[in-house]
Amino acid sequence: MLKEKLEQFIIDNPEDREFKVNGKVYTDQELYEKEIELFFEKSWVYVCHEDQIKQENDYFLAQIGKEPVIITRSADGQIQGFINRCPHRGATVCREHQGNSKSFRCFYHGWTFRNNGDCIGVADQQAYPSNFDKSKHGLTKVAKVESYRGFVFASLEENVPTLEEHLGNAKPFLDVVIDRYADGIEVANGVTKYGNVGNWKLQLENALDYYHPLFVHKSYFDIVAKRGVKRENASLQFKERVVDHQLYLGGGHGLTVHYRDFLKAGYLEGELFQSDFRTPEWEEKVGPLMAKWTQKISMHLLIFPNLLIMEGPALQIRQIRPVSVDRTEVYGRAYYPKGQPDEYTSRQLAAYEFLGPAGHGTPDDIAAFESCTVGYQSEKAPWNNLSRGYDREVTDASELEISELSNFEVAGNISDDTFLRAMFRHWKEQLAEEKDASKKEVHA
Ligand code: FES
Ligand SMILES: [Fe+2]
Repeated sequence: MLKEKLEQFIIDNPEDREFKVNGKVYTDQELYEKEIELFFEKSWVYVCHEDQIKQENDYFLAQIGKEPVIITRSADGQIQGFINRCPHRGATVCREHQGNSKSFRCFYHGWTFRNNGDCIGVADQQAYPSNFDKSKHGLTKVAKVESYRGFVFASLEENVPTLEEHLGNAKPFLDVVIDRYADGIEVANGVTKYGNVGNWKLQLENALDYYHPLFVHKSYFDIVAKRGVKRENASLQFKERVVDHQLYLGGGHGLTVHYRDFLKAGYLEGELFQSDFRTPEWEEKVGPLMAKWTQKISMHLLIFPNLLIMEGPALQIRQIRPVSVDRTEVYGRAYYPKGQPDEYTSRQLAAYEFLGPAGHGTPDDIAAFESCTVGYQSEKAPWNNLSRGYDREVTDASELEISELSNFEVAGNISDDTFLRAMFRHWKEQLAEEKDASKKEVHA
């Protein structure tokens, strides 16, 4: 049934430059459950940034697919993950979103666990059978938790590619995000958190969609213009965007690239970034290739399936959490160059006002997701057209200079559907393979 749906819901016809997806890819319950299993519960997902668990015994709550998870930094500095589920009768043993504690005491009947998962206390233990062994009742460990330069990813499955393999072609771009500043990045305290109606994929797609801003966010651009703010390449007119790219990096990962030095994108009252650290020493530290590209591009980077790093209009790490087939939660965190003077940080946080549930931009996008979700109920008019830019795709890496930094599978204009077509091909292929694998198991 799943296979038939995958065949039915995507029309991919290269000869006619036709690519359509059925609205059901955003509403079908069976597809959604398979997505969660395959992309979230059997793969690496982003769980938090190390700055959220900076100190010994810090912890942070996350979610991997349907599994509630605690990420902890134990006394020896090791980062680990545990299923946040009491082995007694199922309550979550930790209910605070984040904090610092050596142990977690379940609020229901008081069982207590060290932050390395060991069960260290069972209330009135003598009432249990004589062979009851509390060392067998620790928290269940998350199979893999690893950090790549501060970004913490986890996998419930032991048998997955390495994290670096998972990051694949996206890794050098993540390096750009960090290496473009003297001392890397620092994540601000606090979160802009919201839920929206709409399938989780809409969030990913929208973050790499430069076709929509001129329309959906018109009121924001009007406000910006009224304030007299001038930013380099501020216009979103399509004719001025011809040089900017959208790249599909493989593995579901994607990217939009503006070819501009975003450290120079300033406000009238002062620069948004400090850039005088760009010295020969810095260049030597990051290497010539990184020095070149960190000065040449700004990006929106998607690390599939749930991490977005937005370098405009403000710096944000955005974590996507599917809640149900048509409901999604988003956790946004501001970040900024580590150790910079406060005046820059304040200006960057002011730019952050575009984002979040009370921001100038996010509510517009949420309205679009809701509206699309209404449209996807239609049986009579079920198709989305994703053919924009089909005639101007680039599949030969040697055509684009950026391939000296990392590889891409296909590139297009920043306002095109290039990423979407590639992402949906990957999506279909992965889900179809999964179906075949489960079939083999049944027949084995
Ligand atoms: S459910 Fe946790 S102690 Fe009973
Ligand atoms: Fe938007």
